[in-house]
Amino acid sequence: MNMRAAAPGAALSVVILAAGEGKRMKSRWPKVLQPLAGRPLLAHVLETARALSTTAIHIVYGHGGEAVRAAFPEAGLSWVHQAQQLGTGHAVQQAAPELEDAATVLVLYGDVPLLRAPSLTGLLDVAATGALAVLTMQPADPTGYGRIVRDAAGQVARIVEHKDATAKERRIGECNTGVLAAPARLLKQWLSALRNDNAQGEYYLTDVIGLAARSGVTVTPVMLADPIEALGVNDREQLAELEAVCRRNAARTLMRAGVTLADPARVDVRGVVEHGQDVFLDVNVVLEGHVMLGNNVKIGPGCVVRNCRIGDDTELFAHCVLEGATIGCGARIGPFSRIRPTTALGDGVHIGNFVEVKNATLGAESKANHLSYVGDAEVGAEVNVGAGTIVANYDGANKHRTRIADRAHTGSNSVLVAPITVGEGATIAAGSTVTREVPAHKLTIARARQTTIDSWQRPVKKK
Ligand code: UD1
Ligand code: CA
Repeated sequence: MNMRAAAPGAALSVVILAAGEGKRMKSRWPKVLQPLAGRPLLAHVLETARALSTTAIHIVYGHGGEAVRAAFPEAGLSWVHQAQQLGTGHAVQQAAPELEDAATVLVLYGDVPLLRAPSLTGLLDVAATGALAVLTMQPADPTGYGRIVRDAAGQVARIVEHKDATAKERRIGECNTGVLAAPARLLKQWLSALRNDNAQGEYYLTDVIGLAARSGVTVTPVMLADPIEALGVNDREQLAELEAVCRRNAARTLMRAGVTLADPARVDVRGVVEHGQDVFLDVNVVLEGHVMLGNNVKIGPGCVVRNCRIGDDTELFAHCVLEGATIGCGARIGPFSRIRPTTALGDGVHIGNFVEVKNATLGAESKANHLSYVGDAEVGAEVNVGAGTIVANYDGANKHRTRIADRAHTGSNSVLVAPITVGEGATIAAGSTVTREVPAHKLTIARARQTTIDSWQRPVKKK
């Protein structure tokens, strides 16, 4: 679906202002790289821009902002450097030479990340008719925002910045979100007429509204239905508020799609979740990256799941950390398990407390219930990894693989020094350190024999 009903052939160029220093963040990183719901602020704005079938995206970045460019290496972005931050109008001016006269220009802010593409279609429709369209809002508290000043006939005449406004103007509730759209040819003319004789000594983008009105071009305000979408990030407190908005939105989306949340205020989604029916997420679950959850999956409190696929009826008990794993159906993991990348666990696998699995496969119904490390290993079906079993995969220089065939049992506190193969149905005695192939269907013991010294006497303390 084309999101806008622009004149046929009219190109849409988006200019994203991302050059501001973000002083109030008190960070060594540019503001637009601060993460919100697991992605940089600018990534949210880019997603909105891309959802609008744009022909060009120009990002105005600032002094010391090479890190911003580096964070978005993808092709198809036009980077415009603004060496000095002389105001929002000056910022758009830097992009002006890149803008095709025939295009419609949409200006977005890199630190206003919640604005959604459907909220901009009305604005773009207006701009496509040759008018200047300004996205406005009616916030509960207008302090700090530019105010929309109307003339006697009720037409938009100009925008006055809060710092430049009179007491009477400050009582206006209709505010500028900062977002506007206009034909590029006209916008360029207005930009070149901007002056900086104002309270902040800046070239204000908002002054193009007065210039347009005076030149007889219609200025059309388009009211944003939900002012939350216009919330900006200037400091860490606002960042946390927006994070809470994202958390609420994600929780609502999950619940509407049939997921039960123990507490919608205590689930964090930092990525994309696909799920089946009757999934249950307990408190303080964090889902990151791309997470796929089958039907009836239950995730216990405090679990972190990143880029995993979890099959039907599997349950994660409290405080597990899983990353980059594929888990079958009916598995039971945790509490306190760590599953690391490129691990695949079969159906009905049990992984218990203080067990770490890395780059390993475990076949159906295999169990590693207590205090173990299984790394770089292929473990068959119905294997019992005894308590305290350690796969010694690393010789200090290289990693080696371990193969454990179906129905093998490793004794408690055994060490399997890789590379090594354990045959089908083999049993390794408790406390063994095995360094050679362990034959199938036999008991292998690799530990010192137990002896008792009859003549031994316990030393006594000298007087
Ligand atoms: C701006 C608007 C104000 C509106 C408000 C909404 C102007 C003059 N004022 O004010 O009417 O109500 O947004 O939040 O436009 N930036 C640059 N280069 C610069 C200056 C700013 O890239 O030289 C970027 C900033 O990084 C930021 C955006 O432009 O992303 C807005 O700048 P900011 O200084 O925060 O404008 P406000 O004073 O909030
Ligand atoms: Ca701002």
